[in-house]
Amino acid sequence: MLTLAILPGVAWTGVAASAEKASSQESPGEKLIKANDCASCHAVDVRVVGPAYRDVAKKYRGKPNAVQKLSQKIKQGGYGDWGQVPMKPHSALTNTQLRQMVTWILSQGAPPAKKSAAAAGDSAQPKAASKMYAYTLANGTTVKSDFPVFVEDEGKDKNQRVTKDVFSGYEMFNSYCFRCHGQDVTGSEIAPDLRHSLNAGMTEQQFFSMAMAGRPEKGMPSWAGFLSAKEVKQVYEYVKGRSLDLVPVGRPPSETD
Ligand code: HEC
Ligand code: HEC
Repeated sequence: MLTLAILPGVAWTGVAASAEKASSQESPGEKLIKANDCASCHAVDVRVVGPAYRDVAKKYRGKPNAVQKLSQKIKQGGYGDWGQVPMKPHSALTNTQLRQMVTWILSQGAPPAKKSAAAAGDSAQPKAASKMYAYTLANGTTVKSDFPVFVEDEGKDKNQRVTKDVFSGYEMFNSYCFRCHGQDVTGSEIAPDLRHSLNAGMTEQQFFSMAMAGRPEKGMPSWAGFLSAKEVKQVYEYVKGRSLDLVPVGRPPSETD
């Protein structure tokens, strides 16, 4: 039931995104990129799971066979040119579609007009230094998080109700991840206990990369194209809340209750 309740949300996001973009001028390549799973792992200006399109353009523009090489890479997938995380294959795309997508990617090379040359450099990060939130556990230990786990209630309910994002993460985890990673992130015999993964130092970026790219040969599916970046972040926030012992097992009381 939970799965059915969530799927229309995913579809709706897609529809909203394409409706919004339909008004602006788009090349066939850009349309194809929007219609595929590419946005789960790539953005124009920042590295997500894979390289920023702007960096790909910088590296390949003017190189002989760039279009052919990149088309083949997208079609067959692979790793090693930008790190050890793999891109999955896209075997259903035709050569014409691949050429249109790559042509659009290579056209992303020019630095954005409003940024200075320095600001357009490689080190662009998606978020600036973020605020920290501190919570005290029942045993007196204080734990910190770089996103709010609870809504800031006045009075006696303080720190009881989780945010909408954490709650959505709870719903999605227990729709898509629980059958391998255990109900409410309690671990299982077939996949790692993700509380331990985070407590052992896995970063949000590493979690995100793993969730999007997967490790199919080891039984971890790729969620790119199915869960959006925002949804994976919500799942991360729920798992993080569980790993810090802040969020209990079961349905947590939420902001929307
Ligand atoms: C699951 C995440 C994921 C998805 C989905 C994905 N990519 Fe990638 N992509 C990557 C990663 C990771 C790399 C870096 C691979 C490497 O290191 O060689 C990459 C590399 C690339 C490159 C550079 C290739 C090179 O050899 O330098 C291009 C171009 C590219 N992707 C385009 C696309 C397009 C277009 C789509 C959609 C059809 C797409 N990607 C979908 C993760 C993804
Ligand atoms: C079909 C079973 C299955 C499902 C469903 C599944 N996973 Fe996994 N996951 C695995 C397996 C198996 C591994 C270990 C892969 C390996 O050996 O490297 C794994 C590894 C991971 C890791 C890396 C953990 C570590 O310590 O290295 C993360 C993060 C992760 N999964 C997140 C998720 C998320 C988020 C979801 C739901 C959106 C999910 N997984 C759904 C099977 C699954």
